[in-house]
Amino acid sequence: MREGPATVIRREDYAAPAYWIRSVELTFDLDPAKTIVASRLTVERHADAAPGAPLVLHGDGLVLLRCLADGESVSFRQDDGLLVIDNPPDQPSFTLEIRNTCAPEKNTQLSGLYTSGGGFFTQCEAEGFRRITYFLDRPDVMAVYTVTLRADKAKYPVLLSNGNLLEQADLPNGRHMAKWHDPFPKPSYLFALVAADLVCREQRITARNGKEHLLQVHVRRGDLDKTEHAMNALIASVAWDEARFGLPLDLERFMVVAVGDFNMGAMENKGLNIFNTKYVLASPATATDDDFAGIESVVAHEYFHNWTGNRITCRDWFQLSLKEGLTVYRDQEFSMDMAGSASARAVLRIDAVRNLRAVQFPEDAGPMAHPVRPDSYSEINNFYTATVYEKGAEVVRMMATLVGRAGFRAGMDLYFQRHDGQAVTCDDFAQAIADANPGSALASHLGHFKQWYAQAGTPRLQARGSYNEAARRYTLTLRQSGAPSPGQPEKQPGLVPVLMGLVAADDGRALPLKLEGEAQATGTERVLVLTEAEQTFTFVNVEAPPVPSLLRGFSAPVTLDDGLDDAALLVLLQHDADAFNRWEAGQRLSLGRLLAALPGDADLPPLDDAYLQALRRVLRDDTLDPAFKDQVLQLPSEVYVAEVVGSEVNPQRIHRLREQLRGQLASALRDDWVWAFEAHQVREGYRPNAAQAGQRALANQALRMLVLDAVASGDTVWPGRAYQRFKDAGNMTDRFGALSALVDAQSPLAEPALARFHALFAGDDLVIDKWFNLQATANEPASGGGLQRVKALMQHADFSLKNPNRARALLSGFCRDNPAAFHRTDAAGYVFWADRVLELDAINPQLAARLARAMDRWRALAEPWRSAAREAVARVAAAPRLSDDVREIVTKALD
Ligand code: ARG
Ligand code: ZN
Repeated sequence: MREGPATVIRREDYAAPAYWIRSVELTFDLDPAKTIVASRLTVERHADAAPGAPLVLHGDGLVLLRCLADGESVSFRQDDGLLVIDNPPDQPSFTLEIRNTCAPEKNTQLSGLYTSGGGFFTQCEAEGFRRITYFLDRPDVMAVYTVTLRADKAKYPVLLSNGNLLEQADLPNGRHMAKWHDPFPKPSYLFALVAADLVCREQRITARNGKEHLLQVHVRRGDLDKTEHAMNALIASVAWDEARFGLPLDLERFMVVAVGDFNMGAMENKGLNIFNTKYVLASPATATDDDFAGIESVVAHEYFHNWTGNRITCRDWFQLSLKEGLTVYRDQEFSMDMAGSASARAVLRIDAVRNLRAVQFPEDAGPMAHPVRPDSYSEINNFYTATVYEKGAEVVRMMATLVGRAGFRAGMDLYFQRHDGQAVTCDDFAQAIADANPGSALASHLGHFKQWYAQAGTPRLQARGSYNEAARRYTLTLRQSGAPSPGQPEKQPGLVPVLMGLVAADDGRALPLKLEGEAQATGTERVLVLTEAEQTFTFVNVEAPPVPSLLRGFSAPVTLDDGLDDAALLVLLQHDADAFNRWEAGQRLSLGRLLAALPGDADLPPLDDAYLQALRRVLRDDTLDPAFKDQVLQLPSEVYVAEVVGSEVNPQRIHRLREQLRGQLASALRDDWVWAFEAHQVREGYRPNAAQAGQRALANQALRMLVLDAVASGDTVWPGRAYQRFKDAGNMTDRFGALSALVDAQSPLAEPALARFHALFAGDDLVIDKWFNLQATANEPASGGGLQRVKALMQHADFSLKNPNRARALLSGFCRDNPAAFHRTDAAGYVFWADRVLELDAINPQLAARLARAMDRWRALAEPWRSAAREAVARVAAAPRLSDDVREIVTKALD
């Protein structure tokens, strides 16, 4: 917390440090109130630095006890957290010894060394290490760590740090020690320690090269039976990275530890990944299919960081997407390979795009818009964003599209050959992929392509085609443009890979593609590479009037305006060879109906038969997978609709129309929903695989629609069946599906079901989070009691602002994921938001800043919401004490 404006860090100001730290010996005397840290550093002057240049170490919230250089006392000063040694020894290398203390039990920010559930845990990315000891806490300073931990043996029987265990012994006074050594030089953000009372699941595996490894998943006593899935995911991740990218596990021992208080999903500390319990613990009785899938992908993500992040790390934090975008791409590919079928892959792709549109598109259109490689920040923790992660992954995916699967592998090989052990930049990565693929569109247009790293905002792609029947020619004109974003008034054309096909309008067959001047057709699908602001592509020998199917598989993160009418979209929904674009056509048909009804105040008109028939046909099509049908029948979210509308957004109007659309679909397809529910019951034992999950998802959607329709028409049969299913369900997916159906329809049975659910799972934190979140996101218009309920839940004995999962479940659930209940005309939702942001900021700035982002898009709102929202943001901005985290968010929002 500080007063006055925060400092802005700029990418262009990067300079190598004057000193390197080559090795670190740390000794911890762990005590919750006062932990003593002794640090012995081998410091080496940078070849370019002047002898005796000042050595400036980072520190935050520490108490310094002593500081020696080469065993002698050395003069130092402390300046705004920094430890400045003005006259270090003027030799090329020397030893620095530091002793300091920190207070883990007072650390509610959960950055640095903190306590949770009676144990010690660390989180150092991005700048938490300086909250443990003084250091050059920047990712380009890589050192070899040896760590000794000393603690009370009864309270903290397990002592872990990175790398390999060298020694373990008992000490006097009931204490014990463990000494760890990590042979790989690493930046400080990858340091970790754990001291706690934990139990672990172990598995020995043999890699392809015959090497043995020990895998461990450490959890609290009582949670061991919920670790099987995480362990399986870890084993599969190790095998996948070896098979797909030739990247083996490089440590004898690889540990995963779960902790109940954690700001993020998980952290890839070298050899000692620390996870939010949410991404480790699962049993069929307590976790849904989505939870199982989340665990699989986060375990994989952190494991894959071992190469993309740890072996090759970031030169500076502006390069964060170098590791995050690439690693998200890798975990997405892993999940797709695990899911198996082409259809299951498409479903995962649809999920990824839904998420991109719901979170990243709004970010890119709002005050926090930033390039994948940002140019400046004041608090780096604010840049662990959907843009850096998910759009960053799209950038990597486009490279893979442009160079092909084998080309991408060759590029990755070259990247490791060149940079293993280094701290590098996004440019280095793109260059390696391009250099391994000379002659590719990526290599010939690398400059255009790299606009994806530099320019913020979602580019707009416009496509217009015309068919000349007599000449059998189809001309397609593509135009790209970009709206201004903060600090970037003008946008340059980039490189947009447009994967496409032409679908015959009459019978939906895939037409052969031959561009003018080409000798022969190149199949029925190809990538058009757009590098200019406008380009025209002429297809010849087009034997029938085509419907263009563009941006297949979402081949670039853009918004597409292709001007297609309903008739064309219906052709794509029924026939497109690309499953993603089939889904997209269905979404656009639904979206079109909502947008058309938006002006004015009238109810949604009755849905047309063509649309209903098309959806019914998908639902009943037995060649399609249930998971895919579930996706097609799922309507675009209110947040996405608001984003497409873009300005003068009336959240209540969007909610009402979408509810009416859902209501009409529930009633018009009633018999089909009954069939879908009954036909998709899983008879065999629970497995969290894609096939079973798809069946459950569709059955749960059907049940939701049936309960909705029943409650609307006063019928009690389906709500009763839902309640029964809620009581009897053999797994959490079905139980929670039935419970949400009752809550969603505001059935009178919702309250008793919620009470019963709480009683059944009392004490199971992750399930109780679901209970809070379901109520926070309950489908209610602002006139309903949503806010009152959330306020009452804050008083519940199980609620705590200090636990990030719990705070997120309730507060982000309400402020970010329940637009209809949050955007009240009386502004009470905004007042509540401001109060909670300020309250949370005093405890945990990172978490508060996340919640603060609920108001990013206030400018896009219509009155009276817009003015009321502005006022709430301004109130937070004017608060006397604000963290840099929250200050940056609200200041940008008001700019
Ligand atoms: N590197 C971690 C991951 O993506 C996330 C760490 C986020 N830390 C933070 N301070 N925001 O796997
Ligand atoms: Zn990551």
